[in-house]
Amino acid sequence: MRKNIVAGNWKMNTLLKEGMELATAVNSLAKNKTSNATVIIAPPFTHLAEIKKTLTDVKLAAQNCASEESGAFTGEVSVGMLKSLGAEYIIIGHSERRAYYHEDNAILAKKVNLCLAAGLKPIFCIGEVLPERNANKHFDVVKSQLSEGVFHLSPDAFENLVIAYEPVWAIGTGVTASPEQAQEMHKFIRSVIAEKYGSQLADSTTILYGGSCKGSNAKELFANPDVDGGLIGGASLKAEEFLQIVNAF
Ligand code: 13P
Repeated sequence: MRKNIVAGNWKMNTLLKEGMELATAVNSLAKNKTSNATVIIAPPFTHLAEIKKTLTDVKLAAQNCASEESGAFTGEVSVGMLKSLGAEYIIIGHSERRAYYHEDNAILAKKVNLCLAAGLKPIFCIGEVLPERNANKHFDVVKSQLSEGVFHLSPDAFENLVIAYEPVWAIGTGVTASPEQAQEMHKFIRSVIAEKYGSQLADSTTILYGGSCKGSNAKELFANPDVDGGLIGGASLKAEEFLQIVNAF
């Protein structure tokens, strides 16, 4: 069966000392988790090496990576560098990267390729903005993000992907998708994957929900058959609430 995952995207939060304290607290609570979910944290780049040394029960992700392998790209951080620090996952295509840093599906496809070539797992984010949902275009948007971003992959490569559905209107707004809206979209995403790769691969793909997922609503979201966990922003900055989400299966 597919894996349940709860991943914390810290975004641009915490100085190193706070980040170390948060990671230590999450790791120690994760030792006694009551669900089978894999626990992942994605701290800022600057914290990864130090935090990695303290983790025993939590896996490490980066929030982004360069779209080139190495060379004259000032300020960029390569997949190889992230791998050398012990990151196992990389969040690719977060809506904040798409919106503020103009990352399009072609750039994201390059990042996905580099990530997989290095043996790391992409957490590939997709999701519509509110006007797209209001115009009933959300299914089309998500389908084209998948087909342009990851459907060039071979089935063997696709197997290493985690998908995160994050409706942009739910991110950081306190407005979450209803369990029915989440299930409807996750089921659709699985059907699109099945059309492309067959139902066996679709059934084994982990699809996370993200967008104002908290301790108080995680249970009802994760109770849906096609929701395999969460990509958590704000609530991942509080160790106890984050673990409440991990234990919400
Ligand atoms: P919030 O949980 O703060 O809404 O953020 C979700 C998100 O963007 C995770 O990547």
